[in-house]
Amino acid sequence: MTDNLFQEFELNPSIKLKNRILMAPLTRCMADDDLVPTQAIADYYAKRADAGLIITEATIIRPDGQGYPNTPGLFTSAQIEGWQKVTQAVHNQGGKIFAQLWHTGRVAHPHFFGSDVLAPSAIAVEGRVPRMRELVYQTPKAATQKDIDQLVKDYAQAAANAIDAGFDGVEIHGANGYLIDQFLHHASNQRDDDYGVTPANMSRFALEVVDAIISRIGHEKTALRVSPGAYFNLEGDVKDKAVFDYLLPELEKRDLAFLHIGIFDDAMEFDYLGGRASSYIRKNYKKTLVGVGSFSAETGSKAIAEDKFDLLAIGRPFIANPDYVEKIRSKAQLTEYSDEMLAKLV
Ligand SMILES: Cc1cc2nc3c(=O)[nH]c(=O)nc-3n(C[C@H](O)[C@H](O)[C@H](O)COP(=O)(O)O)c2cc1C
Repeated sequence: MTDNLFQEFELNPSIKLKNRILMAPLTRCMADDDLVPTQAIADYYAKRADAGLIITEATIIRPDGQGYPNTPGLFTSAQIEGWQKVTQAVHNQGGKIFAQLWHTGRVAHPHFFGSDVLAPSAIAVEGRVPRMRELVYQTPKAATQKDIDQLVKDYAQAAANAIDAGFDGVEIHGANGYLIDQFLHHASNQRDDDYGVTPANMSRFALEVVDAIISRIGHEKTALRVSPGAYFNLEGDVKDKAVFDYLLPELEKRDLAFLHIGIFDDAMEFDYLGGRASSYIRKNYKKTLVGVGSFSAETGSKAIAEDKFDLLAIGRPFIANPDYVEKIRSKAQLTEYSDEMLAKLV
């Protein structure tokens, strides 16, 4: 019943996937104190190289993008070298791997880098840093035009670094309430300049980052994750739909490797999107779409058969089952995921 998951899938003429199962990006907070990926991280990804494509844990593009302890980076030569070990290990096992590029925006904390927290507007996210509950989120500084120009450059540099590190491409993290997503939602973007108020303005930062990365590494190596339905680190607003109504056709023109939905449970419905985020995106974006969010191989395969999306990303079950793909193929029993598994890289 899951046969379609084992079909090859061509993202574009230069990237062919051996199956339709992607390993979703999963933050593990296991990089060393210089935010360099370790040998244990290389081993962890190599064990999962049976996936059609691995998308790494979110990886910060520069120091002030950090919001969680020991999340890896892609801005120093030691980090690039650390990632080279990872990409080689995955390639040696016949796998493919994209780096997920991340800046947490207002979900960053100066504890990690000691300077201003940057975001579209000076509106704090409520709460505390997970795993470091003593750290309360700060009111960010609204990014100036100069800050924005530098951020765009730094995203493009991190993408170039990813290619130097041997990655097959990058997925820009535009989802889950982090920096790019903060520009796309009214609750966090109250700017009145070229980056605020109108759908085209609110989409500008996301598109500038996409375009800068495409011109640096090529559209066929560039992917993006988006969350039109705000559900994490953000409140939704009925006006947000107009932003994504504008953004999605613009993205379609860019001919990305794929677009990936950022959500924990695809069954979640958003009044202002008229239902599920996946149905809304499918209606407004006709190119390769990656679905995700509490799917089993069976329900994911059915969703692909019903043309709800083209590729299936699997998150938590891949933490619990390094051999997820083989287990699905041989119909073996899966180990159930539990949060305690996050304490150790296996
Ligand atoms: C521990 C954990 C870490 C995650 N880290 C990331 C991340 O770094 N980047 C990202 O875009 N999504 C992240 N997610 C979301 C997953 O990519 C995925 O969307 C979510 O787990 C739903 O898929 P699943 O039901 O198959 O686990 C994370 C989820 C979990 C459980």
